Amino acid sequence: MKSRLKALPLLALGAAALVCLGCKSMPGYPRQESEVARPDEVLDFNTLYKQNCSGCHGENGRDGAALPLNNAAYLAIAGAGNLRTITAKGVNGTLMPPFARSAGGTLTDQQIDVVVQGMLHKWGKPAEFAGITLPPYASSSPGNAGEGQKTFVAACSRCHGVDGTGIKSAADGKPAQQGASPDSIVDPSYLALVSDQSLRSLVIAGRPDENVPDWRGYITGPGAHALTPQEIDNIVAWLAEHRAPAPAQSASGTGSTSGATGKEIQ
Ligand code: HEC
Ligand code: HEC
Repeated sequence: MKSRLKALPLLALGAAALVCLGCKSMPGYPRQESEVARPDEVLDFNTLYKQNCSGCHGENGRDGAALPLNNAAYLAIAGAGNLRTITAKGVNGTLMPPFARSAGGTLTDQQIDVVVQGMLHKWGKPAEFAGITLPPYASSSPGNAGEGQKTFVAACSRCHGVDGTGIKSAADGKPAQQGASPDSIVDPSYLALVSDQSLRSLVIAGRPDENVPDWRGYITGPGAHALTPQEIDNIVAWLAEHRAPAPAQSASGTGSTSGATGKEIQ
């Protein structure tokens, strides 16, 4: 199994190399205009997806380093509005680039619509989620990291270990059980590359390409229940607590809303 947790930092290195693709459009570079459609005339979803998204989100929307977009639960929860905003504007501070020309990207508004509608039509399964109460796409509360740790143990530890550092067999460093991840998901260098929203999307929608369930399937057996919006907020708060604090914050000592304070209250 390819490790995504190691692939994301590699993508960060690769992003610099990608810039060189632009070299071909430098003035003076010989171009064969007649053979290629003008880039903004391309309105085919498969072509647009392949050219712009598959490098990070995977061919056919799965098995990439970034969150799988070919995930019906994710698409149902995000909806066209969020998909369009993120595709147009990107996610600040992460590798997700803006694609709208107004934000410095290369796609027209019409092309962004084609990409958004294409993902929904090709990979969405709205009928499967009709009548199901979906967790809200965005968080409405900061979450309680201490509670999140308890829910993490109940919902996630069978594949990530009780502390999130992964499950390795002593012998060869490979996962000790089927479906488990040997890598740490609380590694600050991984967490530095992803936003809280992307952690939240992953917790809610799972990873169909790794048989990771969605919010309804984590807690099984006695006490089985779908994660509540509060539990989702709490798990994300607990994961986010492992990020290395921004240097400015630790120097000023003002960021007192951090999880450390929350723990003392309990
Ligand atoms: C059935 C096993 C399983 C369960 C249950 C599970 N995960 Fe995972 N998770 C995985 C696997 C496998 C990966 C992929 C790891 C890799 O690529 O190295 C993963 C990846 C991740 C990642 C890294 C981001 C990514 O897209 O690869 C995060 C964060 C994560 N899981 C959080 C959670 C949380 C939080 C829970 C509980 C709500 C959870 N997982 C439950 C198996 C599981
Ligand atoms: C250079 C790598 C890269 C490329 C290219 C890329 N993405 Fe992303 N994308 C990411 C990463 C990394 C994230 C997670 C960002 C975060 O942490 O919030 C992301 C997040 C997203 C999300 C939001 C997931 C969420 O949590 O709701 C959407 C939607 C998305 N990408 C769509 C696209 C589409 C559509 C394209 C092509 C037009 C594309 N991306 C191209 C790396 C990329």
